[in-house]
Amino acid sequence: MVTSRLPGFYRLSLIERRRLAESVMGLPTGAIDRALALGGLDPETADKTIENVIGTYAMPLALGLNVQMNGRDYLVPMVVEEPSVVAAASNAAKMVRAGGGFTTESDAPIMIAQIQLDRVPDVTGAIERLAARKDELLALADSAVPNLVARGGGARDLELRDLADGWLVVHVLVDCRDAMGANLVNTVAESLAPHVAAITGGRIGLRILSNLTSHRCVRVRCRVPAKVLATEGFTGEEVRDGIVRASEFAERDPYRAATHNKGIMNGIDPVVIATGNDWRAVEAGAHAHAARHGKYGPMCTWKVAADGALEGFLELPLALGIVGGTLRVHQGARLGLEAAGIDSAQELAMLAASVGVASNLAALRALATVGIQKGHMALHARSVAIAAGARGALVEQVAAEIHESGTVTVEAAREALRRLAPESDLQAAE
Ligand code: MEV
Repeated sequence: MVTSRLPGFYRLSLIERRRLAESVMGLPTGAIDRALALGGLDPETADKTIENVIGTYAMPLALGLNVQMNGRDYLVPMVVEEPSVVAAASNAAKMVRAGGGFTTESDAPIMIAQIQLDRVPDVTGAIERLAARKDELLALADSAVPNLVARGGGARDLELRDLADGWLVVHVLVDCRDAMGANLVNTVAESLAPHVAAITGGRIGLRILSNLTSHRCVRVRCRVPAKVLATEGFTGEEVRDGIVRASEFAERDPYRAATHNKGIMNGIDPVVIATGNDWRAVEAGAHAHAARHGKYGPMCTWKVAADGALEGFLELPLALGIVGGTLRVHQGARLGLEAAGIDSAQELAMLAASVGVASNLAALRALATVGIQKGHMALHARSVAIAAGARGALVEQVAAEIHESGTVTVEAAREALRRLAPESDLQAAE
């Protein structure tokens, strides 16, 4: 049974973290070294992945900790360049854990294939004829994706949407199982379009998936006992009420909702990237969903429960895959999935969404109390120390000095480095 509670993980060296992660994940020693050699993607494979390749571009891969979802522990792979995202999400996940962890549910992995038609002579009549031939159209759609049907997926339903002025959009709802499904759904849209045009008498337009995957939503709930929210100078109840006010601010103001939601995507995108998924698709769907009522709003909201706990709720469309695509070629993405110990695309989507809630909670807790700069600067100081030339144990020492002095600049870090390690390479280079 995997545990995601690894106290002191951040204090280990990178190599020690690899060995511990391997033992928690049940991998042989050295498996992570091998998977992440060359960042998980060698230049030759990269060259066959996209066009005009000149190399690969590395990002840090970390493990988010303390996440418990539906009673199970998960190590969460996260690829992100922003300091404090992983630490903040792990810290907030620990608070959620104190209230029983994340409780999640997911819709079936249904994607939408859109077929656009215009110049339809009689839209109402066309809708009736399409509805009458639904079974035949779904069978035709299935015949375009036999492998998906063999895996238990396939076309499930039609939605027929009158967009006025002779415009009609046909949605084919396709269960994509463990695939994200973009290629499958585009195949369905293209193969069905001529039949739909013949039935309706309309002119075919676009045939493509919709990234507003409204039938493929996940929902996350959590409860955090007020006392675990307490922080320097603030009681748990004060922090809880501050978070609820922040949530209301996001509901009232799209300017705040955008930043609130950025904090949620801070948790979701790193998991999406670490598992080889399409984060542009996820972003497009998430923000479209956030604006579905005609006004852009928060993806996650917070309120006080009857017993005084803080309660969070998030709903998002989240189309992720655990087969195909990048996973075929990227060893790092495969390792990411292995770390998460995921069995289905739906489970991965629920996990990513839970980390989004954790990130939101961490951000609001900081913003509702001391502000984010304090924690941020402590972590930012580390990157500044590295930029100034510190390596190994000196990174923490230099970072601590410049953070405490309140001057987190490369110049201050160089000075600290000169004092702490007069013999360092930096001195030699000067
Ligand atoms: C920074 O990456 C994210 C935050 O701005 C989110 C928020 O304001 O809720 C801290």
